[in-house]
This record gives sequence, structure tokens and C-alpha cells, in this order.
Amino acid sequence: MTKVRIENSKWEYIKELDVDHTKPLLKQLEAENVEIANACNIGMCGACLCMSETSPDLLDKSLRGEPAFPLWDEEIMTCIGWVVDTDETVILRTMD
Ligand code: FES
Repeated sequence: MTKVRIENSKWEYIKELDVDHTKPLLKQLEAENVEIANACNIGMCGACLCMSETSPDLLDKSLRGEPAFPLWDEEIMTCIGWVVDTDETVILRTMD
């Protein structure tokens, strides 16, 4: 389990939770009643984009983005994005 702290675009605390590093974040966040904008759920629209406030190395880059939506290192599409297995807390900021 990896601990993830969610903040909104104003850096206000939303929730901190343990997530399974083998599964996409969006479904896990929704299961914990954390509302993240989303639409396509396949990594195409960018609605679920979050920014990492911690090291980009804590984001799993294996399934990041689509060629039409190149991502900065600190960006993650939570519908197709993972975090790595770490003892560190991953801080993610929503875009809304
Ligand atoms: S919901 Fe569209 S990219 Fe994640």
C-alpha cells in the first residue's frame, strides 16, 4: 500500500488514503468518495489529470498519457495512472 494525499487546485487538503500500487488511481479515489473530474476513463480526454507535488519518480510511467496528450513528468492521468510502491506519501493536486 502507498499513501496518497489529495489536494485541490488551491492546495487545500481533501483526503489522505492508502492505495493499491497495482491498480489505477481514479477508481480507488472514487471508492473513497474523492471526486476527481473524469470523462473517458481511457486516458484520452485529460479530465482526470492531477499534478504530483512530490517526486515524479513516485508515479508509474508505464501507462502514462497518449501521444495526443503528452504529459509533463509531474502530471498523471488518474484513470490510467498508478503510483509506485513506496513508503513516501505521494501528494497529488487536482486541477479543479
Ligand atoms: S478520464 Fe479521460 S483521461 Fe482520464
